[in-house]
Amino acid sequence: MSTAVALDGPAGAGKSSIAKRAAKELGFIYVDTGALYRTIGLAATRAKTEPVDSPGIDALLEKIKVELTFNENGDQVVLLDGEDVSGEIRTPEASMTASKISAIPKVRAYLLDLQRDIAKNSDVIMDGRDIGTVVLPDAQVKIFLTASPEARAGRRYKELIEKGMSVKYEDILSDVIERDYNDTHRETAPLKAAEDSVTVDTTELDFEQSVEAVISVIKEKI
Ligand code: DC
Repeated sequence: MSTAVALDGPAGAGKSSIAKRAAKELGFIYVDTGALYRTIGLAATRAKTEPVDSPGIDALLEKIKVELTFNENGDQVVLLDGEDVSGEIRTPEASMTASKISAIPKVRAYLLDLQRDIAKNSDVIMDGRDIGTVVLPDAQVKIFLTASPEARAGRRYKELIEKGMSVKYEDILSDVIERDYNDTHRETAPLKAAEDSVTVDTTELDFEQSVEAVISVIKEKI
């Protein structure tokens, strides 16, 4: 039987970079489910459909094809109608659109099997918001990775500046707070720690310490 690690938590807690490294060390596949929501968000932007227009998004889902694949390095590649959009979905705008469309029940239902299928046949660390509560409720390991909004905004700011983007810390912090609100207050699958999850707070931890904390929780449980 394959092993599943559900890694949930708010935006910017370092889930993706920590999970990627932990997966490499453990020989697991890393699955970033946020990329799937971002891809549907991008499809909505391209189709000029408002991310809060639920019937419009439902209709859009009938027309598009979202696929999750892996390249030769084992890195995840998301395809929108066959086009690799992995780079294009990494902007603050795409992230805000993703947060909005992720509240639409049909969007969540559309992505459910896609996520479950990957975990069926491979050892995975899957990162998202509802992995331990909805997508993989039977995951052997459930971790809720969090950090203060200020710490998360600071990290995101640094990351975007390093990529050469021109952004303001205050804008990133208010985005983080708005996304937290959207993610925790939506009716369908809101972000919350699964009852049987272990919380890892990375506010005071650097990257290496965070990876170590996550790996040690995983090793304890499997
Ligand atoms: O992890 P991320 O920042 O790439 O996620 C983008 C948005 O997608 C986020 O605001 C919430 C949503 N999301 C979700 O609702 N459920 C998931 N499993 C993953 C992401």
